[in-house]
Amino acid sequence: MIRAETIDEARSWAAGHRRAERTIGLVPTMGYLHEGHLSLARRAKSAGHAVAMSIFVNPLQFGPREDYDRYPRDLSRDEGLAERVGVDLLFVPPVEEMYPRPPRVTLKVGSLADRWCGASRPGHFDGVVTVVSKLFHIFRPDEAFFGEKDYQQLRIIEAMVRDLNFSTRVVGCPTVREEDGLAMSSRNRYLTPEQRRRAAALPGALAEARRLCREGHTRADELAEVVRRALSNAGCSVDYVAVVREDDLEPVEKVTGPCRLMAAAVVGETRLIDNVALVPGRGD
Ligand code: PAF
Repeated sequence: MIRAETIDEARSWAAGHRRAERTIGLVPTMGYLHEGHLSLARRAKSAGHAVAMSIFVNPLQFGPREDYDRYPRDLSRDEGLAERVGVDLLFVPPVEEMYPRPPRVTLKVGSLADRWCGASRPGHFDGVVTVVSKLFHIFRPDEAFFGEKDYQQLRIIEAMVRDLNFSTRVVGCPTVREEDGLAMSSRNRYLTPEQRRRAAALPGALAEARRLCREGHTRADELAEVVRRALSNAGCSVDYVAVVREDDLEPVEKVTGPCRLMAAAVVGETRLIDNVALVPGRGD
C-alpha cells in the first residue's frame, strides 16, 4: 500500500492507473476505521478497482462547538487495517495540504440540507460536499463508496454528482452493525459502557418500527412515535425522528413507496444517527 500526503502524489497515482486502463474506486473517510469503512474498501476491491482510501478529518464540516479537536484519530492502526483489506493508496493529507488558506470558494447544498441533520448542524453538509468534490477532482474516481448510515449525506452527495455533472458513480453500501444492532461509527468510542447500553435503544426501536410497517402499520406519525418513546424510555434525548421519501428526503404521512425512517438522538454528549428502509407489507 502506498501512503500519500500530497495532492500531487494522489493525482499522479490516479493518472498512472488511468493510463494503465484500470478503474479507480475511492473510499472517503475521516479515519478511526471500523468494519463499516472496511466493508466499503472490500466492496471497491471486489468491483475490481484500484482502491484509494482517504483519511481526512475535515474541519469544514464541524461546527464551532462540535468535536473536531477530540474526533478520534489513530493513523498507525488505520494504516494496518487499510492495508489488510487491500487498499492500494492511502491518502492522508495534512489540513494545510487540503486548505493551504481559508477557502474562498466552497459549495453550498440547497434544500436537501434544510431539514434533519442539516437543521441541527448548520453548514455541515456544505463542508462535506466541498471536501468530497475536492477528493473527486483529485482522484477522478470511477466509483466512490459511502455508507447508508449517513443517509442524508449519501443523498446529498448523489445530488452533487448529478447537479454538478461529476462523472463518478456514487455507490451506497449497507450499514454495518454491532451485535446488538448499534450502527458502527467512530464516535461510538465516546460512549461510556452505560451510555453504550442505552444507545442500543435506537437500532432496536428502528427495527421494531420496520417490523410494524411490514405488518401494515403505515402511518408515519405512529411509526415515529414508537421510536421516540423507546428513545426517551432509554434516557436518550431525541433530535429528530422522521419518515421520509427515499429520493428527496421529504416527510410523508403514510408509507406507500420506498421510505426511510431516520432518527438522531443524543446520549450523554454523543449524537447518534441511524436509519432503516421501510417498505409496507414486504420483508427485506
Ligand atoms: O462520512 C464521512 O466520514 C465524511 O463526512 C466524509 C464523507 C469522509 C467527508 O469528510
